[in-house]
Amino acid sequence: MLDDISGCTRCALAERRARIVVGDGDASARVMLIGEAPGAKEDRTGKPFVGAAGRFLNELLDVAGLRRDEVYITNVVKCRPPGNRDPKPGEISACRPFLERQLSEVRPDMVITLGRVAAKDFLGRKVSITHEHGTVVEHGALRVFLSFHPAAALYNPKLRDVLVEDFGQLREALENRGGTLATTLDQFF
Ligand code: URA
Repeated sequence: MLDDISGCTRCALAERRARIVVGDGDASARVMLIGEAPGAKEDRTGKPFVGAAGRFLNELLDVAGLRRDEVYITNVVKCRPPGNRDPKPGEISACRPFLERQLSEVRPDMVITLGRVAAKDFLGRKVSITHEHGTVVEHGALRVFLSFHPAAALYNPKLRDVLVEDFGQLREALENRGGTLATTLDQFF
């Protein structure tokens, strides 16, 4: 996917990255997860969510009844921000065409945004993840499940239980989903 992304210099993140982290998983998955940006281990390996947050994400997928190889996982920005800072608006907008193309190719019927940055970018509005986590919102023809970022639970163990509960509810939402596939992605951005 995104064969032409190699060597990308659309933003300054290109200067310090080791690898571009495009995404991983089933390219025709019904569920697509969108994180924020690669961390140190992702930058080294070129794969999303392979560090500590990724291990917890695997547990959460299990709670939701999903196997990692049946979902597609990517990030809002494909290169690591220095020191794991939040990606800047210009970096997010420079990378957005790649995310749009991934959505058009995978054509999921549910997107899971991981953390506030991904939710805000995807929905194009301010998001209070404290209030909206665990909810499914309609966005065009897509259903979007808003989640805390799994890394947040590494620093705040209380969030671990909240995330497990949310992904348990996600399992129910997935079991009740209709067969509607997104037909057009124009309305999502
Ligand atoms: N955090 C993210 O948002 N994405 C990754 O790929 C890893 C950690």
